Order: sequence, then C-alpha cells, then structure tokens
Amino acid sequence: MKIHIISMFPDAFESYFESSIIGRAKENNLFEVFFYKINDFSTKKFKQADDKAYGMHGQVISPEPVAKAIEFVFEYIWKKVPIIYMTPRGKILTQEQVENFYKTSDEYIILCGHYEGIDQRIIDLYVNYEVSIWEYILSSGELSAMVLIDSLIRHIPWVLGNKISLEEESFSQKLNRQKEYPVYTRPQEFMEKKVPEVLMSWNHKEIEQWKKKNLS
Ligand SMILES: C[S@@+](CC[C@H](N)C(=O)[O-])C[C@H]1O[C@@H](n2cnc3c(N)ncnc32)[C@H](O)[C@@H]1O
Repeated sequence: MKIHIISMFPDAFESYFESSIIGRAKENNLFEVFFYKINDFSTKKFKQADDKAYGMHGQVISPEPVAKAIEFVFEYIWKKVPIIYMTPRGKILTQEQVENFYKTSDEYIILCGHYEGIDQRIIDLYVNYEVSIWEYILSSGELSAMVLIDSLIRHIPWVLGNKISLEEESFSQKLNRQKEYPVYTRPQEFMEKKVPEVLMSWNHKEIEQWKKKNLS
C-alpha cells in the first residue's frame, strides 16, 4: 500500500508512524507513506499557502499550491488513485467504508485541511471522496487522516499478524457490524471480579454462544 499525504503539517505524523503496530508495519515495508508539504508548493513570499476567506472571517488554504502538490504526485503515479479530503463536511467514516476503500485501491492521496479548510475548487476539480471522522471539529486534518490511515493499514496482511482478530472485531461483517463482546485475560480473578466461567471451559460451542449473546 502507498499513501501520499498532502498537508501543511507533515511533522504531525512522525511519532504515529514510528510507534507500535503501525511503526512495525512501516519498518517491515508493508506500506509506504510519502509527504508533500503544501507550503513547499507555494510561489508566494515566505511560502504562504493560505489567504483570507471570501465572505466570512478566517483563512482558507489556497488552491494553487494544493493543485501543484496533487499534480506533483500524479507525475509519479501511473494509475488513477482515489483522492480523499478529510473534512467535517464529508461522509462519516464507517468500518464498511474503510473496507471498501481497501478493496478499491492500494494507493491513496489524502488531503489534510487547516484553518477554514481547502478552497472548494480543489474539491470540485480533484477530490473523489470527502471523509469525516464524526460530528465534531478538529483544528487540522492530520489527526483525522491518521484515523483513516490506521483503519486502512490494519487490513494489510501481516500487519496484525493474526487474520482472525481483523475478521472478528467490532463493526466487522462477521459480527453483523455489531460491537464486540467484552474481552478478558489473566488473572482469572481481579478485585473480586471473575472471568466468565464459560470462556475458560474450552467448550467452543458454548463460547461461541456466549460471544453472540454479548454482542451489542
Ligand atoms: C477547523 S477545520 C475546518 C472546519 C470548517 N470550517 C467547517 O466548519 O466545516 C480544519 C480542518 O480540520 C480537518 N477536520 C476537522 N474536523 C474534522 C472531522 N470531523 N473529520 C475530518 N476532518 C476534520 C479538516 O481537514 C478541516 O479542513
């Protein structure tokens, strides 16, 4: 999988791509990530990439540097890849949508907004999907892009090491898009609370029934 991130703050991704499951996956070359800093494509003084919004207060990311960044990525890509803009105005991301993205392509361009967002003409001209990570406002698109990227990367074989954990998770098709049952580990008793007996029984049929009953 290849992910091209167009953002004003590529540094924001640094520690995320170095830690835990995602960090290991990157180290093992299970995916590649490329950053394009929007300001680097600006021809303005001091590499400014934003300007005053028309008809309202605030700043908007200018169309020219973003278009240049996208065209720059196009020069290195030989196929059509989805361009995804992270925005609260987009369709709310679900597990099903993540699965669809994963099936549709193995390469993506992700645009991160800032200020009041990116000039609408970029969305009209280039963007295929507008994605929101829920109904609240973040100050910048990097965090929401990380949410999308994390949920995508988990689908790459060997990232989780165990295919079963991916198949049987909250919102998965196997669990009818419901929330997973509670999970337990050792010790069997903790602060007077015991692990449900059935989970320690090795009775697969009963365990499956318990799991089904405890979906929500
Ligand atoms: C302050 S927000 C812009 C909000 C915009 N003026 C509005 O009211 O819809 C700046 C950037 O953060 C990102 N962002 C904020 N909330 C988000 C959300 N719920 N989902 C996805 N991206 C979000 C987007 O990239 C957005 O362009």
